[in-house]
Amino acid sequence: MELVAAADSDERGLSLLKVVNVLQKVVVFVHTFTVDKLRSQLTRTASEEMPHMSEDIIEAKVREICQELVLSPEVLKEVCDCLQEEINKGLAKDSHPEATVKCFPTYVRELPNGKEEGRFLALDLGGTNFRVLLIEFSSKCRMDSKIYAVPQPIMVGPGDGLFDHIAECLASFIKERNLGNELLPLGFTFSFPCKQEGLTKARLAQWTKGFKCEGVEGRDVVELLKQAIARRGDVQIKICAVLNDTTGTLMSCAWKNRNCRIGLIVGTGTNACYMEKLEKVELWDEVIDDPPQIFVSRSVVINTEWGAFGDNGCLDFVRTEYDNNIDSESVNPGKQLYEKMISGMYMGEIARQVLVRLVSEGLLFGGFASDILLEKGSFFTKYISEIESDKSGDFNNCRAILEELGFNDATDADCANVRHVCECVSRRAANLTAAGVSVLLNRIGEESVTVAVDGSVYRFHPHFHNLMVEQISQLVKPGIKFDLMLSEDGSGRGAALVAAVASRCAAMR
Ligand code: GLC
Repeated sequence: MELVAAADSDERGLSLLKVVNVLQKVVVFVHTFTVDKLRSQLTRTASEEMPHMSEDIIEAKVREICQELVLSPEVLKEVCDCLQEEINKGLAKDSHPEATVKCFPTYVRELPNGKEEGRFLALDLGGTNFRVLLIEFSSKCRMDSKIYAVPQPIMVGPGDGLFDHIAECLASFIKERNLGNELLPLGFTFSFPCKQEGLTKARLAQWTKGFKCEGVEGRDVVELLKQAIARRGDVQIKICAVLNDTTGTLMSCAWKNRNCRIGLIVGTGTNACYMEKLEKVELWDEVIDDPPQIFVSRSVVINTEWGAFGDNGCLDFVRTEYDNNIDSESVNPGKQLYEKMISGMYMGEIARQVLVRLVSEGLLFGGFASDILLEKGSFFTKYISEIESDKSGDFNNCRAILEELGFNDATDADCANVRHVCECVSRRAANLTAAGVSVLLNRIGEESVTVAVDGSVYRFHPHFHNLMVEQISQLVKPGIKFDLMLSEDGSGRGAALVAAVASRCAAMR
């Protein structure tokens, strides 16, 4: 009020008033970025407030706004250099405790030789579902599995509740399949960052991907599972290995492909593991022959946990306001920043935020947003894959999705702009993933390496594979050949393979 009174009195006052007005607008803008305020802003009469713009001008403005999602070759090269540095920090003893990219040694040092045999159980926890599998290796691999939901309250409830749920699903699977009389070796794929202290001991470092069960961080998850099974007392199991889904993916592909050295997941989360020479793993202070090795491999699978890349601020030069919003609204603010720019849990929401911004600037849907679009999480990541699956110039999927979101009269220009947003978000994700893979390929330095890949984003996005191949080719050292191979069901088959290799090594003792 005082400022307003002063402003009436003289010229200086008037400019001050303007400054105050501008400041107020800025504050209001920032504030209105939250959904509720935005709702009232975006439901105003567009014709009254939005200046008329031609489709060409709108398209140019949309492109300009999306430009910050486009990463130049120089920027990607810088991302590679940073990741290389972070990996070195993760592997070195002194810097490991503070390192963000933890690079945990997995104790998996032997890849399958294709001759694995026998029946195994596998548990797979890492996303919204939990799976129990029965896997049989002979010359082929046969699998029988059942998916169980992990209800949201269990994902964020007490740790015991989560492990009781897992034990209950396992017990019911064993009963349904009549496996009660056999003591089958079991591999447990637990797809969260764990500090492994052996093949069957893994302490959870921190939860990721929306999980937040109390009392598990810092604890050995194999022990917690055993305790839950003991609380029930109705099943017997023999846990032979605990592993990350990236390791499972690598193993599953290596079973058939001798060149496989990297396991990559681009799904709900993102992460990669790779075979690293022991002499580069300062953290490795075990005897070289423990667990016993058939060929005394001088390498070990390193679970990079690269999802946390950028948590020390080193990726701030590529992060945008959308990334900041997503992070601050997540259950783990400040954590997994690289993952939040890439993976399926966040990609749709990034696109939604861009779309909301475009509506607020009058560049989409005539400046009107639907209530659904303004709801957090309403633009699913699968929409991106579906929209980009439309043939160019054709908007069938796009229109159907926009109708689901409450836009019944989107124009072709709206559809083209929505598609452009999706492309920018998915290309950025593919390019960032490619940067990560290139760093690993350059580190391994072998002439020809296969990268085993799994995860819903990689699997279902129509161009992710090609985009990655194109970008890796730009970033990898000359002379290195690579291919990306879809690794079917790494988390299940891979778990059984780690258990199988472990049993084989144990039998040799
Ligand atoms: C998250 C987890 C990691 C897992 C990845 C893919 O990044 O921390 O362990 O491999 O998601 O599922």
